[in-house]
Amino acid sequence: MNNSIKNMMDEHRLIEQVLGALETYIDRLKSGQAASRNTVTQFATFFRQFADQCHHGKEEDRLFVKMNQCGFPKEYGPIAVMLAEHEEGRNHVGVLADIGGASGPCSTEETNQIIHHGASFIPLLRAHIQKEDHILYPTAQQSIPPAEFDQLDAACLDFDQKTIGIDKIRQLKETAQELVQSFPPDPEKMSAASACVGCCGTH
Ligand SMILES: [Fe+2]
Repeated sequence: MNNSIKNMMDEHRLIEQVLGALETYIDRLKSGQAASRNTVTQFATFFRQFADQCHHGKEEDRLFVKMNQCGFPKEYGPIAVMLAEHEEGRNHVGVLADIGGASGPCSTEETNQIIHHGASFIPLLRAHIQKEDHILYPTAQQSIPPAEFDQLDAACLDFDQKTIGIDKIRQLKETAQELVQSFPPDPEKMSAASACVGCCGTH
């Protein structure tokens, strides 16, 4: 497996942990805990800057571009589905970011919005990750010639170093650890999610 794919799969594992933390947080809100704008901002920051700008950014600006050059269209098929799901996720995270950035105690309506958008985003991104791990990335590995893949590895590393920044990535990974410690993912829900029901049918 090429370094860029291995790194993106490692990023998936971290994103899954924070999705588990968000799931725990939402369960607490459903049980009546008051929503905290700071916490919602932390989740929105991780998903917007790490999951979207860093991870989806590498996919959209590097991997999908290379796959496109190897004959995979962007307008339909797997890449189009992935792009549409990235966009759908951005809408959910956008609502969380807006609520996190507002002031004063969260209203009941805002808390319901956090629950609704969080509860929609979690299964969306979990299934999306499964499709990439089990279908899209293996397809890329089979379809992109080795020399081209070496270039892709370098281009992904360059994206992390220059477009996002290594310090920024380290900071976002620390935010992830804080969220996972504060809101530990439920092991049963995590293992049910990894069973991949209805997403790709490969296991
Ligand atoms: Fe991904």
